[in-house]
Amino acid sequence: PVIYVLNGPNLNLLGKRQPHIYGGKTLADVETEVRGLASELGFDIRFHQSNREYEIIDWIHEAREDGAAVVINPAAFTHTSVAILDALNAFEGPVIEIHISNVHQRESFRHHSFVSLRADGIIVGMGTDGYLLALRGAISRLNAQRS
Ligand code: DQA
Repeated sequence: PVIYVLNGPNLNLLGKRQPHIYGGKTLADVETEVRGLASELGFDIRFHQSNREYEIIDWIHEAREDGAAVVINPAAFTHTSVAILDALNAFEGPVIEIHISNVHQRESFRHHSFVSLRADGIIVGMGTDGYLLALRGAISRLNAQRS
């Protein structure tokens, strides 16, 4: 079984970008951790980041073909993208939304998420450890769907 871990705009700068908010680990560090846990648990990972909305949409379409689960940090697209919500609505597998920071403690424009309308679970404010929590959540949802 496959899990897509999708990352939106500016997350390529993780570790360098506002480390007081997003922590010191790079996205490559996060990818290594996610792959480590996934291989322990017997899952394959497709790990992607893009600053372009259409690429994220295309990966969600790919996940749909693969019968996968999706872990997604849509970054700023969380708050703006009906198109990503629509792509997720066309996808039948588990969706776990993750935000590194506690968006509810921040500017009010970060309090609304289009993606939350579709997410089966949401991890917020747990730092980059949130990716591992989201991965475990996606796997338990996938297992529940299969049994
Ligand atoms: C974020 C929170 C978003 O509001 C922000 O635009 C990001 C990252 C997070 O992981 O905390 O880029 O999704």
